[in-house]
Amino acid sequence: MCGIAGYIGKRQASEFLLDALKKLEYRGYDSSGMAVLSEENTLNCVRSIGRINALEEKLKGMKSNGSIGIAHTRWATHGYPSEANAHPHSDCSGNIFVVHNGIIENYKILKEDLIKNGHKFQSNTDTEVIAHLIEERFKGSLEQTLADVLKCIEGAYALAVISKNDPGKIVVAKKSSPLVICIGKNENFIASDSSAVAGYTDKVIYLDDGELGIVTKDDCKIVSIANNNKVHKECCSVDLDVSEIRKNGYEHFLLKEIFEIPEVVKNSTRGRMILDQGLVKLGGLEVLDQDKLRNINRIIIIACGTASLAGFVGEYMLEEYAGIPVEVELGSEFRYRKPIIDSKTAVIAISQSGETADTIASLLEAKRKGALTLGIVNTVGSTISRETEAGVYNHAGPELSVASTKAFVSQIIVLALFTIYLGRTRDMSLVMGKRIIEEIDKLPCLIEETLKNHEQIKSLAAKYSKYKNFLFLGRKYNYPIAREGALKLKEIAYHIHAEGYAGGEMKHGPIAMIDENFPSVFVVPNDSVYEKMWSNMEEIKARRGKIIAITTKGNKNIEDIADDVIYIPKTLEMLTPVLTTTPLHLFAAYMGMEFGFDIDKPRNLAKSVTVE
Ligand code: G6P
Repeated sequence: MCGIAGYIGKRQASEFLLDALKKLEYRGYDSSGMAVLSEENTLNCVRSIGRINALEEKLKGMKSNGSIGIAHTRWATHGYPSEANAHPHSDCSGNIFVVHNGIIENYKILKEDLIKNGHKFQSNTDTEVIAHLIEERFKGSLEQTLADVLKCIEGAYALAVISKNDPGKIVVAKKSSPLVICIGKNENFIASDSSAVAGYTDKVIYLDDGELGIVTKDDCKIVSIANNNKVHKECCSVDLDVSEIRKNGYEHFLLKEIFEIPEVVKNSTRGRMILDQGLVKLGGLEVLDQDKLRNINRIIIIACGTASLAGFVGEYMLEEYAGIPVEVELGSEFRYRKPIIDSKTAVIAISQSGETADTIASLLEAKRKGALTLGIVNTVGSTISRETEAGVYNHAGPELSVASTKAFVSQIIVLALFTIYLGRTRDMSLVMGKRIIEEIDKLPCLIEETLKNHEQIKSLAAKYSKYKNFLFLGRKYNYPIAREGALKLKEIAYHIHAEGYAGGEMKHGPIAMIDENFPSVFVVPNDSVYEKMWSNMEEIKARRGKIIAITTKGNKNIEDIADDVIYIPKTLEMLTPVLTTTPLHLFAAYMGMEFGFDIDKPRNLAKSVTVE
């Protein structure tokens, strides 16, 4: 949700900033901009509506020389997407420029006071108040002024500020929104996440809440905003592979990431399964007192969006095979409830980015109440990975497409591993542990087989793109997958409305809408609820509804009732979601392509939702 980049050093700042913005574009893409401080101490700012390439075009004809600069790619919160609302924002004199990710909650009152004092505002954003407040209170030191200003700011922020009145530095600060300072040789970088500096440096300092950084070409000093005391920070090395953030011949990241899933499953399981003992080894959980883990009697999974649907699959797995009661909660709801939590409750936050604001807030609330906090996170070093007591990384690699696909599948895989990990300390037998591991081990080949249906799925997308509404139905393990199929279709092919429903609930409402113009997608592998789903298909057919069915190879009789059938290979019931997901992700991707949409960056969405 908004990407921030900054540079100070020996290069042309604008070159790094453009490159970084392109890597951060998944965080928001309705407008962008950059401000560069030249050697002659002049500040040049360029802003543009739309994608980063529009900014790039604009920069071609403009002065942007200088080796200090800040940049921003926006996902609008306050003020519609326009050039005036794009960051960086400045004060009245144009001497101070600010980029911001987050929300300043008390901006209205601050703005009113500033206007009374004669300040002239150019945008409708909350961010602009910061530039004017700095202007009003500036007494020679940018860092001291910013620290002073931040004491009257309520809300969330990751900020980077430059000023020609105190040049030679970028001042940054963080509260609730992510920000990293990346250390180079005679140059330093600022970014919302470290992927932006891939290819430049692998040394990263993670700023924590309440910290302010003064970044110069050769130095980086971190102080506490509250008392100005110096804070000692570790510089971490991160593994940033530039090749992973390229499309590698695919037209879209989304397709590349879907086709990467077999490899992702291998990476998520590598070195973690001990077949002959039916055991799972999760290094990230070894730091825990194992008795504490053995004693938990309840799990609450917290997540948002697609990650929450992986959580629902985990709920079925953990209850059936590890014998632990599980509840799945949306981050945005859990944080405002009065949850009953004790030290025997484990709270697992699932998040691709590790930065989703609602998931983090819920996690911190659970931590405060004494729960054991764990994470299933893809982004190494992210806030959730740092705030949890222990956790498991997905190892799915960077996911650039806004709609989550490979990370979703890897979340299910990690939940399956976690089920064995916990199950084997409880009632799960050696035989069952081995059986699940054997089946997980086969999944990469089975997903390859599923992906071979891509041409068929593409033609189904062409055939069905004329319909405006879809119902997705599933039961038990595939109920969350039906919801995921509907969510993906809405996200990526947003001319279509889709709902994901539990098969048994269909007759309690949605069936009223079914006719020949309202197709249903049935997620019906050959499992323990297949017969029940068959009855639901009959009910749809009786209303002349069209049916696309995803089922297990060999279920030929389904062709008698379904209009179109996509076959997947056979696997253990608890693992069927791994195979039923891929056709649904491809269906949504090809539907989006039918409409000519940018399927990597669908309208109005952002990959990392760092505001409430
Ligand atoms: C956004 C993304 C979704 C993602 C959700 C949760 O809405 O567009 O794809 O599922 O955030 O993100 P997280 O990083 O916490 O998994």
